[in-house]
Amino acid sequence: MKLKNLVEAQQLDVDTIFLLFSMADKFKKSVKKPLTKKILTTLFYEPSTRTRLSFESAMLRLGGNVISTENAKEFSSAVKGESLEDTIRVVSKYTDIIILRHYTGGSAEIAASVSTIPVINAGDGMEQHPTQALLDIYTIWNEIGRLNNIKIAMVGDLRYGRTVRSLCYLLGKFEGIEIIFISPKHLSIKDDIKDYLKRHKVVFREEDELGNVLPEADIIYMTRIQKERMTEAEYEKAKGVYRITQDNLNLIKPNARVLHPLPHTEEINLPIQVEQSDKRIAYFRQVENGLYIRMALIYHLLE
Ligand code: CP
Repeated sequence: MKLKNLVEAQQLDVDTIFLLFSMADKFKKSVKKPLTKKILTTLFYEPSTRTRLSFESAMLRLGGNVISTENAKEFSSAVKGESLEDTIRVVSKYTDIIILRHYTGGSAEIAASVSTIPVINAGDGMEQHPTQALLDIYTIWNEIGRLNNIKIAMVGDLRYGRTVRSLCYLLGKFEGIEIIFISPKHLSIKDDIKDYLKRHKVVFREEDELGNVLPEADIIYMTRIQKERMTEAEYEKAKGVYRITQDNLNLIKPNARVLHPLPHTEEINLPIQVEQSDKRIAYFRQVENGLYIRMALIYHLLE
């Protein structure tokens, strides 16, 4: 299926996912700069390192050009009261594709509804981050060679985290998936995701103890406690509760992998030497995969 935009992970069917994987594999090997006449705009109303810079790098590697507002919340005409709809209608005239990160859930859908060019959701509030989920499953595919029959532990801030939501939506498209959610009670996964998983026959359960789950998981998907999205009291109750350390690393299966959308804080507490030498620690390879999967997605939308 040819996508016109990417607003939510549910839009990606299995054939399109594997088409994007094979394009990403090709871009990993070599690129012939096919998009020299195209312009990509990053419009970010929330901070980012990976998503914004990897999209910009992806476009430059494809031979295209990039225009950007570094901090659209402060430096775009949003400050003067311009609506998101008007901003998108204006930017659509200058560029060929918009990469939007916004603090409000549903904003990517609004943007796509008024845009005359493709829009990619680079994170909308506490809703979704579909390109992160796509690079997450590309990493799983690369690391363990399958997307069916996987037991995955999702750990940390599951209530406010948009990456786990998008990842659940994508995993629901595969067979034999089992998810173990591990979070403080006040940051547990929301009911709409549980309902989706039930409808898609994904087996899941909720656990309190990370140590009990580490020996059985094929993938351990750690997430940061997002201080910026919760009250101080919520944060204090959750901070440092679930951590990967040298002490519990030995509980993880030899062929399992630890993923994290990054940035991480205290939930990963490993020396750099261990991160570099232990093949189970996959989150920096995950970062690199993000570049190739975003190249594939831009190319797919603009070719
Ligand atoms: N994973 C992710 O979205 O990172 P950034 O916030 O740095 O883009």
